[in-house]
Amino acid sequence: MSGEFLCLGIEGTAEKLGVGIVSAEGEILANLVRQMKVAEGIHPSEAAQHHATHLPALVRAGLERAGVEMRELSLIAFSRGPGLGPCLRVAAVAARALALKHKLPLLGVNHCVAHIEIGRLTTGAEDPLTVYVSGGNTQVTAFAQGRYRVLGETIDIALGNCIDQFARELELGMPGGPVVERLARRGRYLPLPYVVKGMDLSYSGLLTAAVRLAERERVEDVCFSLQETAFAMLVEVAERALVQAEKEEVLIAGGVGVNARLQQMLAGMCSEHGVRLHVPPGEVLGDNGAMIAWLGVLSYLSGERQRLEDTHVRQRWRTDEVAVRWR
Ligand code: ATP
Ligand code: FE2
Repeated sequence: MSGEFLCLGIEGTAEKLGVGIVSAEGEILANLVRQMKVAEGIHPSEAAQHHATHLPALVRAGLERAGVEMRELSLIAFSRGPGLGPCLRVAAVAARALALKHKLPLLGVNHCVAHIEIGRLTTGAEDPLTVYVSGGNTQVTAFAQGRYRVLGETIDIALGNCIDQFARELELGMPGGPVVERLARRGRYLPLPYVVKGMDLSYSGLLTAAVRLAERERVEDVCFSLQETAFAMLVEVAERALVQAEKEEVLIAGGVGVNARLQQMLAGMCSEHGVRLHVPPGEVLGDNGAMIAWLGVLSYLSGERQRLEDTHVRQRWRTDEVAVRWR
């Protein structure tokens, strides 16, 4: 193990806490995620408390899993944003403390770009159009001139948030994604508002309409219709972005990406265009520490450096603000 460049990454933008260790060659030596129990949605201060309580043990467990000691690490990386302020600050403070104590360089990295890069690493996708769908983000991006350009996105709530809020209103359990997916398998289609304006998606009207529809229709049917409508909107925007960006691969990223129906609909669109669909393994689709560690590696080895006092968190940090020096 001696001499290898290893990065420890800390993820803590929302209710999940992750610690990952990744080598410069892209080998994932550890990737541990601790999911906070969320009955009624995320309370930022409770999530921050959860992270503060469990981070030390998760870091120790990550080192143990990887079979390395703190002194064998070369770099500490953390998710600097975007995300919930209190959660981001816990991860940042912990990362700074570790870097100081062990005299290691520190890099704060962009959470959204990390989702894209871990997808490229684990699937071998080279230059994909990325469909990134999670609880807090819904973006279709493509690399052009040194940045991941956002070609389409939601103008209100994220797709995962739409499904989660629907599940919460109906008291189906949290997180809503897996529950709604399961119920939808036994559903039939009922019309719901489909809102795509240019390359913009809007999910808040769909959420309201679905909750209302559930007052008089079978929950399975509403789950099915919610998924069909929300995913079709996304696939439409992705298809137009694919043609516009002239990419030959599509990559799925984010926690909603584990949904089998969404994967199937994207696969259908891709096959019509003769492009390949890449689906990363489930453990790197949702929030995790390995993606932060890997983006730390890429950033550091392409020359990025940050002084400790410049590692403040960035709650709103857009994907296309990041200079992608490693490509
Ligand atoms: P981000 O900070 O990038 O917005 P996040 O905090 O939402 O990420 P992720 O782990 O990327 O975290 O995604 C979680 C989301 O994925 C939740 O909204 C959850 O409901 C959704 N999800 C999980 N499984 C499924 C599924 N089978 N179908 C649809 N959505 C799912
Ligand atoms: Fe995420």
